Amino acid sequence: MNPFLKWRQEFPILEKTCYMISNSLGAMPRRTYEDLHSYGEVWATRGVRAWEEAWWMTPAGVGDLVAPLLGAGAGEVIMQTNVTLTQAQILSCFEFREPKNKIVCEAMNFPSVQYLYQQATRRGARFVTVPSPDGIRTPTEEMLKAIDDETLLVPISHVIFKSAYIQDAQRIIERAHEVGAIVILDVYQSAGILPIDVKELNVDVVIGGCLKWLCGGPGNAFLYVRPYLCSKLEPALTGWLSHEDPFAFEPPPVRRRNDIWRFLTGTPPIPAHYAAKAGLEIIHQVGVEAIRENSMRQTSKLIALADEAGLQVNSPRDAHQRGGTVSLDMPDALAIAKELIRREFLVDFRPGAGIRISPHFYNTDDEIEAIMAEIKKILGTRNRRRG
Ligand SMILES: Cc1ncc(COP(=O)(O)O)c(C=O)c1O
Repeated sequence: MNPFLKWRQEFPILEKTCYMISNSLGAMPRRTYEDLHSYGEVWATRGVRAWEEAWWMTPAGVGDLVAPLLGAGAGEVIMQTNVTLTQAQILSCFEFREPKNKIVCEAMNFPSVQYLYQQATRRGARFVTVPSPDGIRTPTEEMLKAIDDETLLVPISHVIFKSAYIQDAQRIIERAHEVGAIVILDVYQSAGILPIDVKELNVDVVIGGCLKWLCGGPGNAFLYVRPYLCSKLEPALTGWLSHEDPFAFEPPPVRRRNDIWRFLTGTPPIPAHYAAKAGLEIIHQVGVEAIRENSMRQTSKLIALADEAGLQVNSPRDAHQRGGTVSLDMPDALAIAKELIRREFLVDFRPGAGIRISPHFYNTDDEIEAIMAEIKKILGTRNRRRG
């Protein structure tokens, strides 16, 4: 008996759809209805007192629920609104002066993150991307070569969003530290589906979110900064919540806290924090090690079925190099993705990758077979129409 099956009833959308899109938006836990209701109750009945009684601490409280998933300690993770803004805040800590002004990342990094770092060229940065030869992997050796004495920042994805390739973060971090560069690791596509240990990685900054594999909904990015570095970084993008005494409303300059709160800015999105709790608690109960084992098995099964169907696999074949997604390409992949969604098989499409299929612990092996059978059916109908 599959030990994960009991969790299916906790996710209402699984009753009606084959939900294979947790790389984009994790399924909503049933309990989130109640949690959002209780947010409304607190607001309705306690009014402004809610800040002191419940809301003020939620960025840190939810951060403490995220922390063990990263191998971080209590008080080392704080919630933020989205990954791009959190990256912008880290970027705002740095000045770019010749010669140590290089930013190095992989060309397959998430575009929003690249857009942002590229803009730093207006402040004197040099922005260098390392190309992928196959649209699946980023060659680690090329990354290591690109990181030199002139490198200041290395913002990389742990898992590449298009192909699910797992970068060798450990080696990249070691190289960056040899040359005195800071690594900002984006774990949006790994947190909740891959075990992560920020202490073992010795990584400087980690940014991710609860929207995807953590089933926490939007507005729930998170930030970890290595304790040694935390009190040294001075974000230009700052605000009153980072202040030692925010209610003193002192004139500038900001007198920052020394802990992870120094990265808060203005009023946080409290309803998002209520929405994030159930997913995080469920992921803890299920256990990321068990999730990873099941994911490797199910994505391998998907690839075997795709091979049988003669589809192009745009994700690594070695399960140890692959996150939770399998990208499959075929002629008219976008139209096929749309047809799958119409038939209640929820997936997405990315140019250059194809259809991304992302089972999570709540998906069954039968669903893996069903989605592949549906793709074959759609392809068959289209081929018959053409023939
Ligand atoms: C790896 C990665 N980083 C960043 C983002 C974008 O995050 P946000 O919209 O919170 O800025 C995504 C979104 O899909 C992603 O997959």
